[in-house]
Amino acid sequence: MKCFHFLNREGKQEPQVSKMAMHFSSSTTSTDQDTKKSVSDLTSRNVSDMSTDSIGRFKFSRFSQRLNDLKIFKIEELKFATRNFSRSQMLGEGGFGCVYRGTIKSSVDLHANLEIAVKKLSRVGLQGHKTEVNVLGAVEHPNLVKLVGYCAEDDERGIQRLLVYEYMQNGSVEYRLSPKVSVPLSWAMRLKIALDAARGLTYLHEGMELQIIFRDFKPSNILLDEHWNAKLSDFGLARQGPTEGLTHVSTAVVGTIGYAAPEYVQTGRLTAKSDIWSYGIVLYELITGRRPMDRNRPKCEQNLLEWIKPYTTDAKKFHFILDPRIKGSCSVKSAMKLAGVANKCLNKHPKLRPKMSEVLQMVQCIFDDEKTEALQTLTPATEEKTVVRRKKRGAESKMRAGEVKMLCRGWASKLVRAN
Ligand SMILES: Nc1ncnc2c1ncn2[C@@H]1O[C@H](COP(=O)(O)OP(=O)(O)OP(=O)(O)O)[C@@H](O)[C@H]1O
Ligand SMILES: [Mg+2]
Repeated sequence: MKCFHFLNREGKQEPQVSKMAMHFSSSTTSTDQDTKKSVSDLTSRNVSDMSTDSIGRFKFSRFSQRLNDLKIFKIEELKFATRNFSRSQMLGEGGFGCVYRGTIKSSVDLHANLEIAVKKLSRVGLQGHKTEVNVLGAVEHPNLVKLVGYCAEDDERGIQRLLVYEYMQNGSVEYRLSPKVSVPLSWAMRLKIALDAARGLTYLHEGMELQIIFRDFKPSNILLDEHWNAKLSDFGLARQGPTEGLTHVSTAVVGTIGYAAPEYVQTGRLTAKSDIWSYGIVLYELITGRRPMDRNRPKCEQNLLEWIKPYTTDAKKFHFILDPRIKGSCSVKSAMKLAGVANKCLNKHPKLRPKMSEVLQMVQCIFDDEKTEALQTLTPATEEKTVVRRKKRGAESKMRAGEVKMLCRGWASKLVRAN
C-alpha cells in the first residue's frame, strides 16, 4: 500500500503555513486504484500547529527510558542484513518507502539470529522517521510492533533514514483478507485481531500519561506475528492528543482515504475519536472481507458503508454482507454483535462514539462468548453424543470431531494476556 502526500514535509524545519494542507495516503492495489488521487482541498485555514506537527511533538523522554534501548544501526550493517536491499528481500512498498526483510545477530544471544524488517524511508517519508522513533521507541505493548532501532546517517549519497522493526511473520491483515491468500482468516481469528487491535489502541489512547492518536489505523498497519498476534505498526503519522483543557488538536489532515473520520477531514480537528471511526471501518472489513472503497465492484457496492447500511441491523438479511469465504463457518450472531460495536464507532457525532476502553470491553465480551460456545461443543454430554454419532457415521464423523477439537485448541493458543 502506498501513501501519497501533498504537503512538502521534507525540510528539517517545517514551514509555517497559513493554509490547510491535506496529505493522504491511499492504497494502490487494484481494488482501489481510484482513491489514489489527491484529496488536498487546500481550503484556506489557519493550521496553528503546523510548525510542531510532527518532529518534536512527543515529549516522551521524561517518562520513558526505552528510547535509550534502541539500537542505532550503521547503514552498512543494514545493507549486510538485507543483502544490499535486494529485491528478493523486499516485503512491500508503502507511501513512506520500501520494507525489506533482514537478519541480524541477536544482542541477547550472539549465537542466535534475529529476524527484522527494515523500512528505508523515501524523501516523503523522512519527516515520519523522528515521530516514529520518538513514539514507537518510547511505548511498549504486546499489541504494538516493536521498534528494534534505527539508522540516521547523512553521507554523500544524501540523507539515509531507516527504521528497524521486529519481523512479523504472517504479514498484514490487509494481505490476509485479500483474495491473494488461499486460506481465509477464520471468524475466530478475525475476532482475535479486532481484540488485539483494540488493546493496542486502548493503550495508546488511555494507557499512558500522554495520549497518542494513531491517525492511520487500517488493515495494512495491523501486522500478524508468528503466533498470529496482531500488532499495530506505522507510527509516522501518530500525534499527541489534546492536552488538558483542550478538546481537540488542530492539525493538517493526514491519513488514508476511506479510514479518516469525516469531521477530521472536514475541519482538521483531531481527537482520539478519529481513531475510533477508523476502528469501526476496520471491523466492517473483518466482517465483510471488503475494502472501504472498491471501484471494481458494481456502483451500488463500491462504498462499503453505503452498501452495508440496509443489512446491518436486520438479522434475516445480515448474512448478505458476511465475507463469502467464511459464511458457512461464521456465527452470524457473533458477527452481528461485532457490527453493533462498529456502528457505535461509526457514529457521525464524535462525542457519541465510545472510548477505546469501552470498545475493548465490548469486543472482549463478543470474543469470550464465541470462545465459550466453541468450548461448549466439548462438554462431556456433547462429547458423548459425538462418540455415538461417530460410531454411526464412521470415518466422516471422526474428521468432524477432530475439527471441533482443533477449533478449541486454536482458541487456547490464540489467547494473549489482557492489559
Ligand atoms: N515489521 C514488519 N514485518 C513484516 N512485514 C512488514 C513489517 N512492516 C511492514 N511490513 C510489510 O511491508 C509492506 C509495506 O509496509 P508499509 O507500512 O511501508 O506500507 P503500507 O502499510 O502498505 O502502506 P502505508 O504507507 O499507507 O502505511 C507491507 O506489506 C507490510 O505488511
Ligand atoms: Mg503501513
